[in-house]
Amino acid sequence: MDIVSLQQRAREIIEPGAYDYYAGGADDEVTLVENETAWQALRLRPHVLRDVSGVDPSTTVLGQPVRTPVLLAPAAYQRMAHDEGETATARGAAAAGTLMCVSTLATVTLEDVATAAPGAPRWFQLYVRKDRVWTAELIARAKASGYTALVLTVDVPVLGRRRRDEKNKFTLPTGLTMANVGTAPPKVEGSGLAAYADSELDASLTFDDIGWLGGLSGLPVVIKGVLRGDDAVDAVAAGAAGIVVSNHGARQLDTTVTTAFALREVAEAVGDRAEVYVDGGIRRGTDVVKAVALGARAVFIGRPMLWGLANGGAKGVEDVVTELTEEVVRALMLCGAARLDDVGADLLA
Ligand SMILES: Cc1cc2nc3c(=O)[nH]c(=O)nc-3n(C[C@H](O)[C@H](O)[C@H](O)COP(=O)(O)O)c2cc1C
Repeated sequence: MDIVSLQQRAREIIEPGAYDYYAGGADDEVTLVENETAWQALRLRPHVLRDVSGVDPSTTVLGQPVRTPVLLAPAAYQRMAHDEGETATARGAAAAGTLMCVSTLATVTLEDVATAAPGAPRWFQLYVRKDRVWTAELIARAKASGYTALVLTVDVPVLGRRRRDEKNKFTLPTGLTMANVGTAPPKVEGSGLAAYADSELDASLTFDDIGWLGGLSGLPVVIKGVLRGDDAVDAVAAGAAGIVVSNHGARQLDTTVTTAFALREVAEAVGDRAEVYVDGGIRRGTDVVKAVALGARAVFIGRPMLWGLANGGAKGVEDVVTELTEEVVRALMLCGAARLDDVGADLLA
């Protein structure tokens, strides 16, 4: 499998404005390109003669077993890729033995996603709305539906300028809604999503809100969108159980450091006080192994999941995860590592 050709086929299937929303990044899309090339630029120093006759890519995330370190990132509006949207993604994730993180801005309610794959591990990605009462109710719904962690996205105090969406006057197609919210983004001159996010999302969040969320939910809180060691340390001190090193798939601030670059600093700063994950530009099994070498416990994929969903619904998502995991296994064997725990920083030049 090749994610580039999967994306090309998805482009023929998905409506052009929706494709641009999925594929695009902020401003000049400098980081969009660099997120991928930064992983490619890292060089491996493989071990030999290490008995790799039985390789096991499984791990745990916050104590939950997963068959692969390739997890599914929260991505809004999945019914634009496939009619079954997030429910298909949930079934694909379950079949591949991985964890799905469901977005606040899903086009299927969080309850229906949970019902689609009852036994599968699932986390809920939270955008805090200015209406904190509504936010608290949303968290209670997620907890009641068996989501086992809250992933608080902290890199959207304002939406990044996604010029493709502005040009396309992007909003949801008729008939689709942000099902957890109960509405669609407004139809406006520029991007409807930007208009929604900028009027509804709470830009006053601070580290203190991590404790508020933990106390309210009783769930572990994972902070998504960290690119610096000092911020990661502050988040952990405020109670975070995990950190996702992420630049939001290059959709927020353009020309940030790449996640491949930021990961080492964050992982070293956090040490073993919290789990560290990474996303952005992960497209090959070698990218995953490099992420683990830099200190990640697991990785998330965003767009590859959407391309799989567009191409084949639940089976398409399952295939993307399974094939990436097969690449991880091959890369581990070729690096002389029988399991993820055997992958250390020495594997990178
Ligand atoms: C179409 C799309 C929608 C996204 N929606 C969300 C979202 O609702 N919440 C969130 O925290 N991140 C969102 N993200 C960011 C992803 O969770 C993830 O950080 C990013 O896609 C990883 O980069 P990759 O696409 O290169 O794998 C979205 C990304 C894409 C591509």
